[in-house]
Amino acid sequence: MIQSNQIVLITGGGSGIGLALAQKFLENNNTVIITGRNLSKLEKVKNENPKIHIYQSDVTDDPEVRMLVDNILQKFGGLDVLINNAGIMNLVDAGNQENDLQKQMQEIEINYNSPIRVLHYFLPLLKKSKNAVLVNVSSGLAYVPFAQAPVYSGTKSALHFWTLGIRPQLKPHGIKVVELLPPVVRTDIFNGIEVNEADLKPILPAKLADLFWKDYIKGKEEITPGISKKLKLMSRLAPRFIFKQLNKKPIPNNK
Ligand SMILES: NC(=O)c1ccc[n+]([C@@H]2O[C@H](COP(=O)([O-])OP(=O)(O)OC[C@H]3O[C@@H](n4cnc5c(N)ncnc54)[C@H](OP(=O)(O)O)[C@@H]3O)[C@@H](O)[C@H]2O)c1
Repeated sequence: MIQSNQIVLITGGGSGIGLALAQKFLENNNTVIITGRNLSKLEKVKNENPKIHIYQSDVTDDPEVRMLVDNILQKFGGLDVLINNAGIMNLVDAGNQENDLQKQMQEIEINYNSPIRVLHYFLPLLKKSKNAVLVNVSSGLAYVPFAQAPVYSGTKSALHFWTLGIRPQLKPHGIKVVELLPPVVRTDIFNGIEVNEADLKPILPAKLADLFWKDYIKGKEEITPGISKKLKLMSRLAPRFIFKQLNKKPIPNNK
């Protein structure tokens, strides 16, 4: 895999895993562009990493994504690596009729529909690159659902299957498809969510980026750091056992 001098776009790169990946690509002398909805968050990242390029752009907003394509084409002349990273997670009790339905629909829109949208509009640029790579950031929960976040788990499993399906389709166009399935990583995605750190043992985003980079540069297609590798294996060997282990408490607090 080419490691440097690539033009890299990371959706949702203003925090957490996306930001750690952005820093890894920067360290390796790539041009890095990050997006997000919150401009002040992106500006803060830009202050700390002056070489990074920022665009306020919502992955769910069709015209904004198309404008991003135009802006990147004009300013950078193309794109080599697209990282579909933007995502959210809601804890939901499907048995509670007072649920916020809109929030659940939005979760599907961001986590699953938007990677499809972003690839769709960036496809012409990727097809022109000599070393095109699409990286989809799904989750270890694509293998074993986390009952407290049922919509999230569904979107990540859908993203996983979409990734498997498009890999052979994009190959003839010279686009390599990589999937990163992170384990539990300490990021803002857990803001306002109680995590049992003793059981889940979160790793830091920088550690995840190191583990990703090692496999990425080797050309690995499915990158399963830490517990994600075990979830993959256990989902095949003992699916009911691992589901029970992960879901001793299926209903979230106060939902
Ligand atoms: N942390 C974990 O344990 C873990 C495990 C497995 C997979 N993942 C996946 O890793 C990815 C990154 O998550 P993270 O853990 O790093 O959490 P994070 O720090 O909250 O990062 C998510 C980023 O996505 C951006 N975003 C959300 N909605 C967006 C939208 N509509 N348009 C553009 N950007 C949007 C957010 O910025 P704005 O709010 O400014 O838009 C934020 O910077 C997600 O896909 C997540 O599902 C995380």
